Amino acid sequence: MQNAAQHKTVSDATDQCEIQSIQVKEDYNSHEIIGQSRKMREVFELVSKVSDCDSTILLNGETGTGKGMIARAIHQKSKRRNKPFISINCGAIPENLLESELFGHVRGAFTGATCSKQGKFELADGGTVFLDEIGDMSSDLQVKVLKVLEEGEFEQVGGAKSIHVDVRIIAATHRDLSEEVQKGNFREDLYYRLYVIPLMLPSLRDRKSDIPYLVSHFMELSNQKNGRNVQEVTEDALQRMTNYSWPGNVRELKNMVERMVVLKGNGSITAQDLPVELKSSHRFEPSTTIEISDEGICLNSAVTEFEKALILQSLEKTKWVKNKAAKLLHLNRTTLVEKIKRHHLQPCNA
Ligand SMILES: Nc1ncnc2c1ncn2[C@@H]1O[C@H](COP(=O)(O)OP(=O)(O)OP(=O)(O)O)[C@@H](O)[C@H]1O
Ligand SMILES: [Mg+2]
Repeated sequence: MQNAAQHKTVSDATDQCEIQSIQVKEDYNSHEIIGQSRKMREVFELVSKVSDCDSTILLNGETGTGKGMIARAIHQKSKRRNKPFISINCGAIPENLLESELFGHVRGAFTGATCSKQGKFELADGGTVFLDEIGDMSSDLQVKVLKVLEEGEFEQVGGAKSIHVDVRIIAATHRDLSEEVQKGNFREDLYYRLYVIPLMLPSLRDRKSDIPYLVSHFMELSNQKNGRNVQEVTEDALQRMTNYSWPGNVRELKNMVERMVVLKGNGSITAQDLPVELKSSHRFEPSTTIEISDEGICLNSAVTEFEKALILQSLEKTKWVKNKAAKLLHLNRTTLVEKIKRHHLQPCNA
């Protein structure tokens, strides 16, 4: 898949199905949320619908699916965009510090509290508080967060005065919160108070059609960031990336592309350059029953993939002896060699 060619594919697809992306400004960098699959288009649609209201949003999704990015996008599309967006990772801060981080403390509230300090809720007044990994919050703190959600009020640690704030809350978790409620690990009242607008981010393996766009995007970003000039990711490499299960989702893909771009420097990223877990990932299995999803199917690329899968199968069956593989496919050797070149095929361990 050549860089230029790939862009052509991207713009062709734009003509047909309009690639969706949301620009997110974070610090001084501009990040784009990429996604043209049906599932991501639904996410973008929901983001547009809910950004300009104050309802609480509960983002759910596996690690690396973009919960943090979407939370920021919602804030930046909202009327609160010129006020702070304050993010706090409830799972990363020790429980005894988290209360003071969220609500602040008065002077002398505990040993070491030599002066009073404002908490994140106060600092975010007028803006958005992003409670990341809320499923990891202790039950005591859950009660206090519930109070902010219901009354917009809280007290600083050691303080008696109620402080009123105007914040929108976006919460995120990779856990199944309803299951955590059943197990008694998460308060039911807080769960329902958060569950006003649930937004589920799909895993990457559930939206494989986004992979080529993400690869192209991250390849360009990494070229720019690292002063590299990688031109293409071959079809074979891309096929293997598409077949992989991506347990770390988009983050894993992004880091992998960056690593390959840095190490390769220029030219093409081929199947050889992939990490071992992708080299051994299952390949496209030709099947006579290909399902046409709601998103439709591009006949030309489906036929190309089918041809490629059959050629690969015959080559593997014959241990890459091209004469034998050509015979299996009822082709002459020269035609097979041409097709191998065109599809950038090569043996896995060559
Ligand atoms: N759709 C996307 N388009 C472009 N980049 C994305 C997309 N989704 C995620 N990313 C990138 O992947 C990385 C992980 O995203 P993010 O931190 O938002 O995920 P997360 O769901 O919050 O993960 P975690 O649960 O581990 O906190 C980030 O570098 C982000 O820029
Ligand atoms: Mg996150």
